[in-house]
Order: sequence, then structure tokens, then C-alpha cells
Amino acid sequence: MTSMQNTVPRKVIFDTDPGVDDAMALYYALAHTGVDVVGITTTFGNVTVEQAAINALYLTAIAGFDVPVTQGVAKPWFKASEAPPDFIHGDDGLGNLVTRQPTTNALDPRASAQFIVDMARAHPGEITLVAVGPLGNLATALKLAPELPKLIREVILMGGTVLEPGNVSPVAEANIWNDPHAADLVFTAGWKLTMVGLDVTHQVILPVTLFADIARHHQHAATDTLLHAVKFYADFYSDLYPHVAKIHGCFGHDVLAFIYLTNPELFTLESGRVRVAVDGLAQGQTMLRRRHINYPQAGWDAHVPLTHACMQVDAKAARQVLEDTLMRAWLPAL
Ligand code: BDR
Ligand code: CA
Repeated sequence: MTSMQNTVPRKVIFDTDPGVDDAMALYYALAHTGVDVVGITTTFGNVTVEQAAINALYLTAIAGFDVPVTQGVAKPWFKASEAPPDFIHGDDGLGNLVTRQPTTNALDPRASAQFIVDMARAHPGEITLVAVGPLGNLATALKLAPELPKLIREVILMGGTVLEPGNVSPVAEANIWNDPHAADLVFTAGWKLTMVGLDVTHQVILPVTLFADIARHHQHAATDTLLHAVKFYADFYSDLYPHVAKIHGCFGHDVLAFIYLTNPELFTLESGRVRVAVDGLAQGQTMLRRRHINYPQAGWDAHVPLTHACMQVDAKAARQVLEDTLMRAWLPAL
């Protein structure tokens, strides 16, 4: 497989909870000629779903794009809601912006799950879902349209972890932890599914200086906003991880899902059946059963479809792809 630089742009619905790394991912997708963002569906997670929708509208508007944005699920399917992590993304999800420009783009009135179903039916076999938040919108869409896996081209999600320690518990990654029941439904639905989890996202550390260079290059409100947000987010990660602090950087988490879409050749994958622990001490753990081991317990039988889990990434090349893409002339003049 090679990069999709010269292919027909891939129609993508971006399911997101912006969120600083979500904003990075959105701008990467809008900047990349191989990606056609046909809709943005929002979920609770890094912020409330109302704030997530406001941020998606704002980020697209200031970048000069008019993409349909919908509001989706506000809470987990079964477990109790938790307060958004304002210490990671800021109260507003974008590092506490001091001011926001007035913008005029408005929400699409459909619920996110309905939007996903409508788009999948209108473009059978063409839509890729890139999901980088808790998975309630995808799970609700599966409930609305059980035939959805046959209509969707593929799902790429940022979430979970196989071997790397979790980031909200010793075994759980935040997006899966936030709605483990929804995640288990998504992992067992039977679509082509690739998991871009902490195994690879923790390999790619992005320095603030990269975003400062991008902002200096474009001199644009969109990249200034991204730089502001990344500075806040990098402070959090630099306090937590000494090796990240060394370069005053952060993990790119969500943008790795798009880098996998555009440059799958940078990743090494392992396939297996993934189930999610929905409660107990391991809640939110993504358990990958290797193909060659047969466990006798119920729940691992052949009806559980294969997930392709990213295990290694060429971090240097991924950083370069991110830089090259965001340095392109993708922003209209102010
Ligand atoms: C994931 O959790 C969120 O905080 C990030 O946006 C990313 O989607 C990383 O665990
Ligand atoms: Ca996210």
C-alpha cells in the first residue's frame, strides 16, 4: 500500500469531540488533497457535545470551509457521565481561547447518527468513518441501520490500546473508557475496522515548535488558533511525561487516524478479534485475541470479526507527513 497523494479523494465523515488533537486532525484532513470531509459528527468526550459542535463549526468556519456539522450523543450508553477533562483541552476544548471571531455557519439539524446513516445510504460503499472520540454516534447509527457495515467503506478509529499502558487506567484508553458498551458494539459490528490506539499514538511526539512554524508560515486565524490550543495541551503532556517535556510537545493521537488513512505504509498492523471490557477494574480495556490462539470462553468465537490494530509507526515519517500537509496552501486568504 502506498500514500493516497494522487488518488481520488476519500469521502470521510469525521466523528469527533474537539478537543485539541481533534482540531489537529480536522485541519490535517481539510488540508490533505486525498481526503474529502463530507461531514463532521460530534460527541461528548473532551468537552460537552454542545461545545464539541460549537468547536467543529468554529474550526471549519475560521479555516474558510463549510462542511455539514451535526450534534450527536451527549453521554455514554450505560455508564454514568464524567466531567470533561478541562485540564487537558481547556474549558472550551481549544486551550481556553481568549476571543473567538464571529462566524455564521450553522448546525445541520439532524442527529449525528442519522446523518451517518443518511450519508451511508446515499453513497453506498464510499464513506469512510474516521472516529476519534467515544463511539456512541457509531453505535447509535448501527442501532438505526443494522445494515450499516455493508454500506460503509471502512472505519478507522483512534482509541484503545493493545500493549501500551492505558491513559485513564492501567489498561484503558480515554475514548473507549468513556463509552465501553458503544465501543464493544463497534468492534463486533462486522465492518472493515482499523484501530489506531496508544500503541502508535504514544510513539509520535509533536513539538509545539512545529505548530509555531506552521502558524508563522500561514499567518492565518486557523493556524493561530491551533497553535494556541496546542500550547495548552502540550503543557499538560509535558507535566505528565518527562520525555515529552524534553521537547515541550504532545501526542498527536487523533491526527494519527488520518495519517493512517493517507499513509498506511507507515504502520505495522496485527489482526485479531477485539472485545471491550465493559465493567469492573478493566473497564474500557481493548482485548485483542491473536488469530492463532483459540480460547475456550464464550465471546471469542468466529462470529467476532477481525480488527486491524496498528502496533508500530514510523514516527519520523508521520511527523514529516503532518508538517508537509499543514504547510500546503490549503487556507483561503483572510
Ligand atoms: C483520545 O482521548 C481524547 O482526549 C483525545 O482527543 C483522543 O481522542 C486519546 O486517548
Ligand atoms: Ca478526540
